[in-house]
Amino acid sequence: MELVLTNRILTNGHYREELEKIRCAEENRIFCRHDIEHFMNVARITLIRCAEKGIEADPDVIYSAALLHDIGRYAEYTEGIPHDEAGVKIASEILEETDCPQDVKAVILSITGSHRRTDNEKDSLEYIFHWADKKSRMCFCCQAQAECNWHHDKRNMDIEV
Ligand SMILES: [Fe+2]
Ligand SMILES: [Fe+2]
Repeated sequence: MELVLTNRILTNGHYREELEKIRCAEENRIFCRHDIEHFMNVARITLIRCAEKGIEADPDVIYSAALLHDIGRYAEYTEGIPHDEAGVKIASEILEETDCPQDVKAVILSITGSHRRTDNEKDSLEYIFHWADKKSRMCFCCQAQAECNWHHDKRNMDIEV
C-alpha cells in the first residue's frame, strides 16, 4: 500500500529540519528519544491495536500522525512549550506544505494535540494512539531506569501482546 501523505511528510524539508533539531538536542539524552524508530513503533502498535479492536484506521493517517506527534520536542527543550501544543502548530504548517486534505489534517492534529492526554474517549484513535505511544517504550531493557521519572506501575517491564 502506498502511503502518499506519510512519504510527503517524510521528504518535506521543514519536517527534516525539525527532526534534525530534535536529533541534535537529544544526542546525549539518556532517556527515550523521539526519533523515526519511535514514530514507526507507535504507528505499528496503533494499527495492530485498531485491527484487534475492529476500529477503522487509515494507515496513511496513522503513520503521518506518528511522524508528527512529537515534532514539537525541540520547542519544548528550547522554549519550554509543551511539545503537544508546539507540535500542533508545526504539524499544521507541514500538513499545509504537503497538501493534506483538511479532514485528514483535523484528525492528525487532534492526535498530535491529545497524545499526552489520558482522558481521551475509549476506543477513539486518540486513546489508542496515546496507549501505543506509551507501550512503544522498552523499559525492560532501558539503561536509565534508575533516573527515569516514569511511575513504576506505568513502565513496560514485560513483553506483551
Ligand atoms: Fe510525546
Ligand atoms: Fe511519542
